Amino acid sequence: TATPQAQIGVTGLAVMGSNIARNFARNGYTVALHNRSVAKTDALLAEHGDEGSFIRSETIEEFVAALERPRRALIMVQAGAATDAVIDSLADAMEPGDVIIDGGNALYTDTIRREKALAERGLHFVGAGISGGEEGALNGPAIMPGGPAESYKSLGPLLESVAAEVDGVPCCTHIGPDGSGHFVKMVHNGIEYADMQLIGEAYDLLRRVLGLPTAEIADVFARWNTGALESYLVEITAEVLAQVDAETGKPLVDVIVDEAGQKGTGRWTVKSALDLGIPTTGIAEAVFARALSSSTEQRKAAAGLSAGTLAAAPTDKDTFIDDIHAALYASKVVAYAQGFDQIAAGSKEYGWDVDPGALATIWRGGCIIRAQFLNRIREAYAEDPQLPSLLLAPYFREAVEAGVDSWRRVVATAAATGIPVPAFGSSLSYYDALRSDRLPAALTQGLRDYFGAHTYRRTDKPGSFHTLWGGDR
Ligand code: ATR
Repeated sequence: TATPQAQIGVTGLAVMGSNIARNFARNGYTVALHNRSVAKTDALLAEHGDEGSFIRSETIEEFVAALERPRRALIMVQAGAATDAVIDSLADAMEPGDVIIDGGNALYTDTIRREKALAERGLHFVGAGISGGEEGALNGPAIMPGGPAESYKSLGPLLESVAAEVDGVPCCTHIGPDGSGHFVKMVHNGIEYADMQLIGEAYDLLRRVLGLPTAEIADVFARWNTGALESYLVEITAEVLAQVDAETGKPLVDVIVDEAGQKGTGRWTVKSALDLGIPTTGIAEAVFARALSSSTEQRKAAAGLSAGTLAAAPTDKDTFIDDIHAALYASKVVAYAQGFDQIAAGSKEYGWDVDPGALATIWRGGCIIRAQFLNRIREAYAEDPQLPSLLLAPYFREAVEAGVDSWRRVVATAAATGIPVPAFGSSLSYYDALRSDRLPAALTQGLRDYFGAHTYRRTDKPGSFHTLWGGDR
């Protein structure tokens, strides 16, 4: 057998895996290739073998033997049982000090479990969130590696060299121990759901309230992409809306079945938010909105429900477009504030010590939620690492306060014209709740004490109290 010469190996050569393998090779690394079925390995070599230095392998043993020590093997297979199977066979073929990296969308609790088991065998396990889709994997994704800090010393430079870069800073940093990388990637995806839902609501208002033609809406998003909302998702929204269907000549979006799919990371984010007790309402509304869109039978059955008396559309079109822009921006701030709250809570719960400013920094490029906006978040945490909420960072506070009248007009108009805006609406409610001196929670406490003797605290003295409610009657 030849001397091992690959600095990195990739096993699982579907779309993401082959693109990241090519990315490593294009950056000058020798890359060992492996896939359960050899056909994918050979297809990659046939199509792109000339892009760099690859080593073909058929078995896991051959694959592992091709790696320089300490060995570094990146797994890019389906999350769940497939990942466990591949980890098991890799671990059996590896030796203490070697590094296994899971670049898939694993559930962070699985990553915690796997890291613990592998650490007991002397192996380093790195759960790395990778975002950027197909194109990002090839040309530079955002990478969120969690795991032992020691393994990052040798692995970090490799990952940083294939990651995206913004202002010379790589979009990759060590996030923290065990499941932290996959956790922040999960919340990243949740934020992506919220971003897309907010964009969808803005589009719906432009379409159904103002009655703008799709091409004109595409222009609105293209214009928005030159300002504070500049981001990958707003940019591609303009492109998706501008796409004309070759067969029918209609905007392609009008020919697409109106049911949103989901693979699960949004749902995971919301489940985790519930467990941590963090009101991540923007992401939750986005996940529920996708579920509702896919409740086809129910939607069909409910299509005849009366809308009641609807208000007329606003007469000043340009003002309303600006209002929607403000509502989109403010709701986006809320979604990110909530997502960063959840990350802080997860970090505390699991002892990860995640640096929110560093996270905002690596999300500026490569990933799906990349945006100008993240520079502002980075600055906010640089100014005050203990920020109680992103909404309280001076920049965001000013921006949201400047747009709050518009935000209210949009939510009110949506209600009055019968257009659902779950994310705009819940974000505004969240904002109003957060700034409220007294919420109706005192009444909730009264009710809980009434029927369940759950006790309550008083505003004027310490201690727990129980009342014999209505006892005097
Ligand atoms: P993508 O989304 O990038 O297309 P994916 O669906 O997440 O990829 O993962 C598909 C990869 O997981 C494939 O490389 C697949 O191997 P095959 O080409 O042999 O099907 C791999 N995979 C799935 N289950 C696996 C298992 N139990 N053991 C090893 N590899 C597995």
